[in-house]
Amino acid sequence: MKFLATLFLITLFTACNSNAHKEYLAQTENDKTAESKIHQEHPGKKLMENTCYVCHNPKTSEERMVAPPMIAVKMHYISEDTSKEDFINSMVEWAKKPSEEKSKMPGAVKKFGLMPYQFFPEETIKQIADYMFSNEIEEPEWFELHYNQMHGNRPQMKGNMGQGMGNRNGMGKNQVANTQPTVKERGMQIVQTTKAELGKNLMGQIQKNGVIAALEFCNVQALPITDSMATVHNVHIKRVTDKPRNPQNKANAAELQYLENFKKQVAAGDEVNPIVVEMGNETEFYYPIVTNSMCLKCHGTPGKELEALTLSKIKELYPMDKATGYNENEVRGIWSIRFEN
Ligand code: HEC
Ligand code: HEC
Repeated sequence: MKFLATLFLITLFTACNSNAHKEYLAQTENDKTAESKIHQEHPGKKLMENTCYVCHNPKTSEERMVAPPMIAVKMHYISEDTSKEDFINSMVEWAKKPSEEKSKMPGAVKKFGLMPYQFFPEETIKQIADYMFSNEIEEPEWFELHYNQMHGNRPQMKGNMGQGMGNRNGMGKNQVANTQPTVKERGMQIVQTTKAELGKNLMGQIQKNGVIAALEFCNVQALPITDSMATVHNVHIKRVTDKPRNPQNKANAAELQYLENFKKQVAAGDEVNPIVVEMGNETEFYYPIVTNSMCLKCHGTPGKELEALTLSKIKELYPMDKATGYNENEVRGIWSIRFEN
C-alpha cells in the first residue's frame, strides 16, 4: 500500500515541472477570492461532481482513491502555454477515448488502470473543462499534506517543483486524512464505480455489437476496475441474487434476508439505505441492484423484451438460468461487498 502511494506520488510530481504549474499552485493557495465565488454556479461544477467525482472525488483519502483527484489531472493538463481552448480540447479528446498513448499521467494509469471509457455528451465535457480551467477546484486534504512533504510548504515551493523528491521516508505519517469518508460512503463509492464500469461496458457493447455479443460483458468479476480496487483497497465485490443466471452468484442465507428487505423497501417506494455490517477491521456492505429498461433485454420476459435468439444464447451459456421475467424497477440482486476498514 505504501509502496503504491509512493509510486503514485513520484509519477504525479515528476511530470509537473513547468512554471505554469507553479503559478497555478501559488494561485489556488490564495485565490479564495470573489472571482472564484462568482463562478460557483458554473454548470460545469455540478456536472463534474455528478459524473467525474464517482472516481475523482477529492473527499476520498489517498489510500482509497480509485483515480487521481481532479486537481492532479488539472495540473498535468495545464502548462505554461495552455489556453482554455487547448485544455477543453484535450479533455474532450481524452473522454472520447482514453488510451495509454494519449495519457499525460502514465503513473496514474499504472496505479489505477486506464480510465474506463464511458459515454459522455461532448457538451458535458466542454462545460466541465471550462469550469475546471477557470476555477479553483476542490482538492483533497491529503494532497496538500503530501505536497508539503514532498516539496516543502507550497509558497516556498516556487522554483522547486518537480525537482528533488524531498524526504520520502516520512511518507506513511501523512495518512491521517481529515476527510475520511465513512464506511457507508466508501461502500457507495465502490458500488457506483463498479456500476459505472459495468454500465459502460454493457451499453457500449449493446450499441456496437448487439445484445448477443454483449452477453459476455455482464460479469462483474471480469471488470478491470474490480481488479484494481481489489489490489488497492482489498475489496471483494460480488453481485448475488435469489434467481441466479450464473450459479456462482447465488446469495447465501444472510444475503437472501437482506435481499428480501430491500425488495420490500423498493416495492414500497421507500428510500433505500445500504446495510452496513462492521466486523472487526472489515466492513460488509449490501445494496440492492435494481432493474431498468436496458436490463430487460437479457433479464425480461421471454417473447416480450427478451428476444428468442437472446434467450437461446443465454440457455446455451447458462443452462440453469433463473434470471428472466423481471420488470423495470425490481430488485434483481444485491451488491455484496467486503473491504478492510
Ligand atoms: C469510473 C471511474 C472514472 C470516472 C467516472 C471518471 N474517471 Fe477520469 N480517470 C479514471 C482513472 C482510473 C484515471 C487514471 C488512469 C488514467 O489516466 O487513465 C483517470 C484519469 C483521468 C484523466 C487523466 C488522463 C491521463 O492519463 O492523461 C482525465 C483528463 C480524466 N480522468 C477526466 C475525467 C473526467 C472529465 C471525468 C468526468 C466526466 C472522469 N474523468 C470520470 C477513472 C474515472
Ligand atoms: C446483454 C445481456 C445483459 C444485460 C443487458 C444485463 N445483464 Fe445482467 N447478466 C447477464 C449475464 C450473461 C449474467 C451472468 C454473468 C456471470 O456469468 O457472472 C448476468 C448476471 C447478472 C447479475 C448477477 C446475478 C446472476 O444472476 O448471475 C445481476 C445482479 C445482473 N445481471 C443484473 C443486471 C442488471 C441490473 C442489468 C441492467 C442494468 C443487467 N443485469 C443487464 C446478462 C445481461
